[in-house]
Amino acid sequence: MIVTRAPLVLKLSGEHAVVYGYSAVACSIDIYLWARLRERNDSKIILRFRDKVEEYRRDRSQGFFRYVNECLRLVEELYGVRLRGLEISLELDKDVQPGAGLGTSAATCTATLAALCRFLGIREDIARLAYQVELRVQGRASRMDTYTSTLGGVTIVRGERVERLDVDPSWIRLGIVLLRKLRSTRELVRNVAQLRERYCDLVDSIFNLIEKCTENIIRAIKKRDLETLGRMVTKCHWLLNMLEVVDYRSNKIIIELLNDTNVAGAKISGAGYGGAILFILRSNLDSLELKELEVIHSSNAFKILCPVRISDGGVEVLERGY
Ligand code: PMV
Repeated sequence: MIVTRAPLVLKLSGEHAVVYGYSAVACSIDIYLWARLRERNDSKIILRFRDKVEEYRRDRSQGFFRYVNECLRLVEELYGVRLRGLEISLELDKDVQPGAGLGTSAATCTATLAALCRFLGIREDIARLAYQVELRVQGRASRMDTYTSTLGGVTIVRGERVERLDVDPSWIRLGIVLLRKLRSTRELVRNVAQLRERYCDLVDSIFNLIEKCTENIIRAIKKRDLETLGRMVTKCHWLLNMLEVVDYRSNKIIIELLNDTNVAGAKISGAGYGGAILFILRSNLDSLELKELEVIHSSNAFKILCPVRISDGGVEVLERGY
């Protein structure tokens, strides 16, 4: 049996602007998607995730398994193999739902591809393959999630280049609020494109300001400047509001979070309209304080993950099972 795990991803800055070549910063977190690959006695390829079970079919891919299907198809095409007799089981930590805005599809690709490449004895650039799969499934994708899930740590995305920042981010304490996503990434990217068509100068100015936040965030992480990091992340959030991609629920939660003296900054992570909200903590929340946060938000339907750390490693093949 081969076991791999890939970290999920948060975006610290640069969403939407990154689509137009501006820089963005992302990080991998210590919440993982696990893939377990084992051989079967028959010729079927069975895919499992929680209570979902599906057989791999080359002619069809829909729903949650479409990323796994496309990974299998890409590997078969690239290496001229016909895969058979396999079972791939996926698991997500902390009961996170797919599509939560934490790069679950990217992690699905990197963990699955890492397992397949190990199974076939191929050394491959997992990030490159995972990006191809996202492109095939989504039609449009930036390299942010797939490369960050592969490389791990803090990454800077600039157009087609993605580099890992040489820093120790272990001092950064994060929390995440997960909300139901009300609009798809594809729709929101299209809305921003329309906004830009109409108000090009204004939208480009917003992108430029987002880029300034990105630069300050990189400097703040290097200098371990928590206050600047928090401030810049928050400014990024209000700039995303100016792009009209933030919903009322998210803003309400962000304002409540920012009113908490423990929180140095907060923003949505991802395309917008729900999904993930990240917040940066000033200190270690003890259980009492965390409880208060939960009470504040108990009227809304969402989930809090706290504390969350930036993971150092990216996708890995593990020797033992989980
Ligand atoms: O909503 P998510 O987590 O898929 O993030 C999308 C980020 C965008 O910048 C809006 C699009 C992209 O491909 O980078």
